[in-house]
Amino acid sequence: MSGIDETRTVAVRAQNVYKVFGRKPKEAVRRLQAGESREQVASLGTAAVIDASFDVHQGEIFVVMGLSGSGKSTLIRMLNGLWDSTAGSVSVFGTEIVGISDAELREVRRTNVSMVFQHFALLPHRTVLDNAAYALEIQGVGAAERRERAQRIVERVGLKGWEDKLPGELSGGMQQRVGLARALAADTDILLMDEAFSALDPLIRREMQEQLIELQQELGKTIIFITHDLNEAMFLGDRIAVMRDGRIVQVGTPDDILTDPANDYVAQFVQDVDRARVLTASGVMEPVRSVVQVSAGPRGALRVMRDLQTSAVFVVGHGRKLVGVAFDRDVLQQVRSGENDLMKVVRNDPATVTADQHLSELFEYSADSSLPIAVVDDNARLIGVVPRVTLLAALANQPSNTSELPVVEPPVTVPVDLITQTLRDTGGPTDDELAASEGSK
Ligand SMILES: Nc1ncnc2c1ncn2[C@@H]1O[C@H](COP(=O)(O)OP(=O)(O)OP(=O)(O)O)[C@@H](O)[C@H]1O
Ligand SMILES: [Mg+2]
Repeated sequence: MSGIDETRTVAVRAQNVYKVFGRKPKEAVRRLQAGESREQVASLGTAAVIDASFDVHQGEIFVVMGLSGSGKSTLIRMLNGLWDSTAGSVSVFGTEIVGISDAELREVRRTNVSMVFQHFALLPHRTVLDNAAYALEIQGVGAAERRERAQRIVERVGLKGWEDKLPGELSGGMQQRVGLARALAADTDILLMDEAFSALDPLIRREMQEQLIELQQELGKTIIFITHDLNEAMFLGDRIAVMRDGRIVQVGTPDDILTDPANDYVAQFVQDVDRARVLTASGVMEPVRSVVQVSAGPRGALRVMRDLQTSAVFVVGHGRKLVGVAFDRDVLQQVRSGENDLMKVVRNDPATVTADQHLSELFEYSADSSLPIAVVDDNARLIGVVPRVTLLAALANQPSNTSELPVVEPPVTVPVDLITQTLRDTGGPTDDELAASEGSK
């Protein structure tokens, strides 16, 4: 179990915090403190948070996980003073925020805590850049500096080129990037994120999670992240607090939670303490790199394999539907003989799984194939891949760049120079010409 590490700066400390909504909140708390249950005090009000105590260290990603109604949002809203606690203490970098004046609270929010919501909460008639700069405007930062700082953050979250669009012109994933940019632009030490990625498609969600970790490492933010998704909690959390019916039932590292669940509720949440049965393909899949359209033909396929140094490529048709796999030797042969139909060498039996399949079901596929496992949606569209190394790393709870695990992609079997030579000898556009034509699209 991870205890409180006194050597690290405490960003947020909650001590015996209660929140009761209803007629007689104080009385409800007194009775809860005297040992009565949530149900016993129900006539006095809803005990949304009961006796919560924890420290969040500076620079940590602290995840609060629990089923719907367990009190997560109520808890996080007390951490920035959006709601006052009914009892107990909340401090931010040592400053008690329960019961302080509105002015003092505004100052804490301005310098210390910003929030990212599930449903973006963007201003619809303002551009991406102005949305990102909004918090700075509130802070009274001048127009020029505001734009400059917002611009930097907008680029940092991958929205360069979209600065002048309105939120309605953006996809959900992009809107959430704007929400994130707005919180980051405020440049507070602490970010509160309430189900911030829950409305996103699995792969976009994964990208956002990865980016959040990157940003966290780069900017050293303290992040308190709420989710009811175990995959997400495990992926993001340095530590996880599990909530049930208003109470925090366990705080620990993902490993603590999985291997040493505090009670049956947590155990059930993590399903038999078996990662392979808890984590799903969507939770560990990665974007597909080695992929080509049928229409790109053998030359296109060969180029992708050469550039990515792989010996196989996923082939997709209209609407990104997976049609199969092509291997470098076959494709090279085609290019040499002037054959233009990639379909002739496509093998249509790659291992495919759906996003919600558990890792335990993925092993049988990975054992007998050197290819990553293809993840497809209900319409057979290729939405991601699970490289074997990722699968093993997920189970071992390791970062996937560890060197002791087997290789991700099948290694090249045909030398790169030979491929380049063949592409050149058989005519067609050169790489430079292709790059030029792609650039002008
Ligand atoms: N403003 C409110 N007034 C009365 N009851 C409330 C209020 N906000 C929340 N509650 C109740 O408090 C309990 C905890 O709600 P909360 O929104 O914190 O849960 P949650 O874990 O965030 O759930 P979800 O995953 O659905 O967002 C619920 O029983 C809810 O109905
Ligand atoms: Mg909530």
